[in-house]
This record gives sequence, C-alpha cells and structure tokens, in this order.
Amino acid sequence: MDTMVTLNDGNRIPAVGFGVFRIPADGPTYEAVRHALQADYRHIDTAAAYFNEADVGRAVADSGIPREEIFVTSKLWLQDYGYEAASKGIDASLSKLDMDYVDLYLLHQPYGDVAGAWKALEDAKAAGKIKSIGVSNMTPRIWNTFVPQFDTLPAVNQVECNPFFQQKELRAILDKDNVKIEAWGPLGQGNSALLTHPVITAIAEKHGRNAGQVILRFELQEGIIVLPKSTNPERIAGNLQLFDFELSGAEMDQLRALDTGKGSHDPEAPGIGEMLLANYKVHD
Ligand code: A2P
Repeated sequence: MDTMVTLNDGNRIPAVGFGVFRIPADGPTYEAVRHALQADYRHIDTAAAYFNEADVGRAVADSGIPREEIFVTSKLWLQDYGYEAASKGIDASLSKLDMDYVDLYLLHQPYGDVAGAWKALEDAKAAGKIKSIGVSNMTPRIWNTFVPQFDTLPAVNQVECNPFFQQKELRAILDKDNVKIEAWGPLGQGNSALLTHPVITAIAEKHGRNAGQVILRFELQEGIIVLPKSTNPERIAGNLQLFDFELSGAEMDQLRALDTGKGSHDPEAPGIGEMLLANYKVHD
C-alpha cells in the first residue's frame, strides 16, 4: 500500500496525518509538531479554531524539511463564513502559519453561509493560496444540502470515523465522486471498549502490533485518510508504522462487522452551529 493517496483534484496527500486539536499553543504544539516531523510524519492537520496555527508554522519552518515535502491542512472557522469574511479568514490562516500556501483548507463546520465561504476557498485555490479544498463534519444529509450548490467538488470530507462508526452511508455517496474521507478520532478518541475489543486485540496479537495500529491499518485499507492523536512518543511513532503489514480479507470482514452506525458527535443536532460559534471565537 502506498503511503500517499491521490485526491480527486490530482493532488497527493500522505494517508496518515498528525492532528493538533486540543494541543495548547505557546510551546506544546510547537514541540509536538517538531517531534512528529522527526518521527517522519509529513502531514499536519490544524485549524483556525485550534488556536495553534502559528506554532505549527514555526515548527514546520524550523524543521529544516523543505516546505513542499510537508502537507499542511488548516480550516476556516464559522465566524468567517460568507465570501468576504472567508477571504480574510484564509489570509489570516496563511499569515499565522507564515506560509505562502496551504496544501488543504477545509470549511470546519457546515453551518451558516457555507456556499459563500466555499466560493472564497475556490477563488483562493485559483489564486494559488490553497492547493486542495474540502469540507468537514458533513453528514449525508448536510452533504446533499450544500454540495450541489458548489461549482467545485470537495476533495475531502473530514468526519468522525472509527470501527464503531464506519460512515458507510456517507462513504457510498462520496465514493461516486472519489471524495476521500479523512477520519478524525480514528481510534475512537481513546474509547477503551474499542481499543480493548477482543476482535481487535486478537488480530493485533496475530500480527504482533498494538490495537491502535490494527484499527488504523483497517481504516487505511478501507481507503480512509487517518489523523490519529497521541501524546505518547512511542505510540506517535508506532501510529505511522502501518505500511509493513496487511490485514486479510477475513480480518477486514471481522472489523467491518464492528460498525454500530453511531458516533459521539451529531452534526445535525439542533442548535449545534450556534453553540460552536458561541464557544470558539477566533477573533473579536
Ligand atoms: P495516548 O495519548 O496515551 O497515546 P483519537 O486519535 O481517535 O482521537 O484517539 C486518541 C486516543 O487514543 C488517545 O487517548 C491516545 O492515548 C490513544 N492512542 C493513540 N495511539 C494509540 C495506540 N496505538 N494504541 C492505543 N491507544 C492509542
């Protein structure tokens, strides 16, 4: 299996990325990204609403690795939806990252003037500020509401995805247009019922791997881009060691059978857009 995935716009993305959600700014994010790059991650996933774009930018710059060898994703926050605000929001991300371009830029949440914000992403792509554009947290229903209004198809939809919530309905829709799923919470956000599930631990033992590696390899073999989180240096490195073993067809079927069809986050819950907007302010 290739360590890179080709997107529907022709760009290539490393299949495993390092996410920095909830890692504090002013030190910890910088250290975590430096460490991840040393451990050979070449894909970093941040967002305006993570408040640590500047630390990511400094860590990438200080790594000595050429910028074009590192795939950087950021995301536009809800406060900046609508065309004008989104155009400024994209520039604010580039300025905080101190970069000329980002490899992938997403609409972080699907509420408000999504179509206007998307148009700004399309124009920023045409201007060379963004290489690929995508969305996040779109359920099948939300996808079918907004995406038909777009001129350009998203390259990715970053959603909650793990063996207990395999997003089968959404994947069937996205597969038709070769839109890739990026999994946030690919390890179930540390859910011990998942990480100690007997089906997973038995497969892990057979391959001499840990449970997290089996889960991530399963997702990769399903064609999903994964963004695992860990604060443990050994697991950070191990979560990239996924390309030297393979799950059999029977093992894949066993893992597919763990799907419950339900996740921890419901993007269609009433009032969620307002709640998110009230709780995260990326500027005054
Ligand atoms: P830790 O930081 O101690 O490694 P997700 O990526 O789905 O949000 O899940 C993150 C959680 O999964 C964290 O609690 C992390 O704990 C744990 N984790 C990360 N990698 C592994 C692994 N390879 N095996 C088991 N647990 C892991």
